[in-house]
Amino acid sequence: MPALKQIYAIPPEGSTYAVPQDFDVNFNWDYDDGRAAMMGLYRKGIEMQWNAESRIDWSQELDEDNPEQLPEAMLPISGMAQYEAMSRQEKATVRRHFQGWQISQFMQGEQGALICAAKIVTQVPDIDSKFYASTQVIDEARHVESYKRLLEKFRVAYPMTAPLQELIDQVLRDSRWDMTYLGMQVVIEGLALAAFQQIRDHAQNPLAAAVKANVMQDESRHVAFGRLALRDYYPTLTQAERDEREEFLLEACYLMRDRFDAVEVWKRLGLDPVKCAEHMYDSGFMQLFRSSLFTRIVPIVKDIGLWGDTIRNGYETMGILAYADSDVQALQDADNDIAKDFDARRAYVASVADRARTLQTA
Ligand SMILES: [Fe+2]
Ligand SMILES: [Fe+2]
Repeated sequence: MPALKQIYAIPPEGSTYAVPQDFDVNFNWDYDDGRAAMMGLYRKGIEMQWNAESRIDWSQELDEDNPEQLPEAMLPISGMAQYEAMSRQEKATVRRHFQGWQISQFMQGEQGALICAAKIVTQVPDIDSKFYASTQVIDEARHVESYKRLLEKFRVAYPMTAPLQELIDQVLRDSRWDMTYLGMQVVIEGLALAAFQQIRDHAQNPLAAAVKANVMQDESRHVAFGRLALRDYYPTLTQAERDEREEFLLEACYLMRDRFDAVEVWKRLGLDPVKCAEHMYDSGFMQLFRSSLFTRIVPIVKDIGLWGDTIRNGYETMGILAYADSDVQALQDADNDIAKDFDARRAYVASVADRARTLQTA
């Protein structure tokens, strides 16, 4: 396998990136009386640990023409004249770059989650939240590892896209602990779940689908954590403080919806980014993306009590207010069951392979 830094289609700016910090690191001497729900989540976090190296069968390969074996409609420029006129080989390159760009954003975003979870451990005042968040730190490291291993098989990687970096930078700089939760645990995690789900449910490639299914099993705990911690905290703030958070949320939702445009890919492949954008905006894929993106965010926002006029009017304008009533618990239960299905599939294939080895055919 080539080293990741050798397969970057565009070199990242520098090999490290620093965000200056200005917040209090909090100790807490009250070790008793953790909230039952939070301690339950912590216990679940420990019990559901897994090893990316052994749980996923990395001997599986991606497809040469269409790495994740996704329907053509999930390529946002399919149907565009310039794309349709390409040779089979050129189309394969576009698919590999676009899918590789998406997986790169997942990997880079997971590193953001790793760092935010570690920040939460140090900053949050409650000890039960520190306990839980420490399990998330190892989860996120495993997610970075899983996506990195998948990305190596694409033979192409992209740096973190500027809009995502802007948002992560902003929540890391903010000295208030709940802003890290809001940006990472509610917006980015919610968005990631919607994006992972689209691939998990449509990719015919078993390796690509299994990576998302396993990661999603952990992510639903992460969203549950943000929800638990913030539901207790926001009622204690003033209306003005809550309004400020609602404005931040709206801005973050717009940023993630409108600026996740893959412009790096189109430019790198010599396509006209404006023509691609015009085509993408009306494509079925993007219409689905824009709406399904928020299925997991809106109900949480309502649940944590950031449900004033600012957010309701904003979501109404975005056409996503109706998601407030979607059943997040049902989605999370399904995430858990689907991950188990992938484990069962792997065990079945292994048992057939075993039997085939011992079967005498001569
Ligand atoms: Fe993650
Ligand atoms: Fe996460």
